Amino acid sequence: MRVKVVVCFALVMVLFDVPVLARMSFSTNTVISTNSPSIDRRVDELLSRMTIEEKVGQLNQLFFFKQFMKPEMVEPDIRAGKVGSLLFITDPAIINRFQKIAVENSRLKIPLLFGFDVIHGFRTIFPVPLAMASSWDPSLVEQAQAVAASEARAVGIRWTFAPMVDIARDPRWGRIVEGAGEDPFLGSRMAAAHVRGFQGADASSPGRLLACMKHFAGYGSASGGRDYDSAYIADAELYNVYFPPFKAAVDAGVGSTMSAYMDLNDVPATGNAFLLRDVLRKEWGFKGFVVSDADAVGNLVTHGFAEDKSDAAYRGLTAGVDLEMSFPGNPVSNAYATSLTKLVQEGRVTTGQIDEAVRRILEAKFKLGLFENPYVDESRVATIHNNPEHRRLARVAAQRSMVLLRNEGNLLPLDKRDPKVSSVAVIGPLADSKRDIRGSWSFVDDVNSAVTVVEGIRAKVGPQVKVEYAAGVDIARVNQSPFVILQGARPAAWSETQKQAEFEKAVSLARSSDVIILVLGEHEEMSGEAASQSTIDLPGRQLELLKTISGLGKPVVLVLINGRPLDISWATSNTSAILEAWHPGSEGGNAIADILYGDATPGGKLPVTWPRTAGQIPIYYAHNITQEPENKKNFTSRYWDIPSSPLYPFGHGLSYTTFNFSNLRVSKPEVKLGESTEVSVDVENTGRRAGDEVAQLYIHQRYGIASRPVRELKGFERITLAAGEKRTVRFTLGKSELTYWSAAAKGWVQEPAMFDLWVGADSTAMLAATLRVVAR
Ligand code: BGC
Repeated sequence: MRVKVVVCFALVMVLFDVPVLARMSFSTNTVISTNSPSIDRRVDELLSRMTIEEKVGQLNQLFFFKQFMKPEMVEPDIRAGKVGSLLFITDPAIINRFQKIAVENSRLKIPLLFGFDVIHGFRTIFPVPLAMASSWDPSLVEQAQAVAASEARAVGIRWTFAPMVDIARDPRWGRIVEGAGEDPFLGSRMAAAHVRGFQGADASSPGRLLACMKHFAGYGSASGGRDYDSAYIADAELYNVYFPPFKAAVDAGVGSTMSAYMDLNDVPATGNAFLLRDVLRKEWGFKGFVVSDADAVGNLVTHGFAEDKSDAAYRGLTAGVDLEMSFPGNPVSNAYATSLTKLVQEGRVTTGQIDEAVRRILEAKFKLGLFENPYVDESRVATIHNNPEHRRLARVAAQRSMVLLRNEGNLLPLDKRDPKVSSVAVIGPLADSKRDIRGSWSFVDDVNSAVTVVEGIRAKVGPQVKVEYAAGVDIARVNQSPFVILQGARPAAWSETQKQAEFEKAVSLARSSDVIILVLGEHEEMSGEAASQSTIDLPGRQLELLKTISGLGKPVVLVLINGRPLDISWATSNTSAILEAWHPGSEGGNAIADILYGDATPGGKLPVTWPRTAGQIPIYYAHNITQEPENKKNFTSRYWDIPSSPLYPFGHGLSYTTFNFSNLRVSKPEVKLGESTEVSVDVENTGRRAGDEVAQLYIHQRYGIASRPVRELKGFERITLAAGEKRTVRFTLGKSELTYWSAAAKGWVQEPAMFDLWVGADSTAMLAATLRVVAR
């Protein structure tokens, strides 16, 4: 099991809160400013004064858990210059205390760099990343991460281990919740938005953090969806699917990269020079530093790759890992700290190789301004954390992230003035759970401040509507989450008698209510790291509860709180309304109530293809066409027991209004290689209320030196239209959209060919046009 760590750092730094949303504008890509000659000089000067032990110290990052470690356990090493970075410290007093030792009592006075997993919020929790991707709204993501950065920076954290940009096409893999889903184009737009949000125009500026793209690369392709399992990915798939979000983060100026845990094509990612040197540095020109995932260097031995810890240090460093993240007390930890000095003395590693890694760490510290402002101002923390604007944005982010999967007979929105729905039963194990509304990687917020669905609905409807709650069933992981050590154990499971009584109580409450809002899904620790599962079934007796309550013949709204697509096939045939809320964050309950009662209109879209059953996995829309194309009449060859189509397609999401796409135009239907064309479409709100639609452009290259996916997303835009409003949306299709990496050419190619284009509301859009690309 892995334990999360946080690297913190700190001292008297003047922190400003993030500017309020309205004032934010992020037109340019962020950078951790390029090296100035003066930084080069300062690094050279410092390097020339460092002993080999001090250099190795800069390459050592340690977890510190206040919950079960004492500061005295790490202070001697900080004083001796044997630690360059710490993670998982969120207490500004401890950050300042450690930093003081580093900058006042160590020989060279090099400040520490403090990091933490600021994944979807710090004190204010935003929707989980998969949910934020469902917004299809990069500017929202950027704003949310700017707020998260400001709150973390307020306590002295200067570096976040985010964004996770791993493409994930297997919902059994628990970490699908931490990324943007299955698609490289959407994933790239999201990756860049996260980076801009965290770093701003410059990661050293007030309220900002250094970002870290992770986990490089291929972690999302774990065999069987089992966390940490090996990934086997052909080069074409790496370049076309798994690499693009990383490349987008590099282009957006991301300051650091985390290597992944698993084997990629039999070479562990943390000892993989193809990834860390050939692709990351040589092909992409990445200038930041690389940190290992926790204990991933020492685990090169566990993988059966390195001979021993010293060999692991050698392989990690020479492959391109600059900083080793180590967990205290693990026998595989501290490979660099225990071996690098000796490796230099033995001549296996050169001083030049050590200096190259140390230089990158020092550069980051200089650029972040740590030498000038190492401390954090503890007196400003509360003001920054209590900014009401943060909660307001969290509510908007949650509203915009939700996906209305189904709404038969326009059951939603509910009307709180309608006497026919004056008693509401809110039922389910997640309906009143403050812990689960937030999602994994929520460690620092005040869990009591999170708003549950029951609370959100009560606040929304007022006293004229009777709102009652029953859990109905309890759910639990079979194998305990490693994170309970940080988040606390769950209450004991119910006894058999209690289970029966709670079930009956929920059914009887449903029977006596006008409408039932059933809140089902997963505990927050059922997705995330070390949270894979073999099925995608609704855990516990939730399906039985759904079936029993549906049998009462009352209107039922299913609200899902979860971190992955779940098997909701039964609900899809039997429940009128289904709202996918994911883990929506601190304001989740309010945002759900806003949507259910029509104060906000749903406009999110699925960033993943939704399977009918686990047996369809992996299932993703951008697959190649087989000799039995799905559009063939009587197509039954894929499975004989179920339809081959997913339950819900990638890009799907309904609104309370309706939209029509028309007038698809291609400005130049024939272009030469390298030229661009404009694709435009009219989108009209044909309903009676305002709402959001996401116009999505898909392409297919009909022939070439490789088979290309049946459809690939190449453009999208979320727009808000008033009732009756019509607007033209425009996309540019050019070289970058029409180029792909070909195994036959062993490189990027753009070919003369015919392309099919579709624009519409999801990946099954039928409004079509063509584009011909001809040789120059
Ligand atoms: C995870 C990383 C995380 C690190 C530090 C690891 O177990 O894989 O994503 O950033 O812990 O908490």
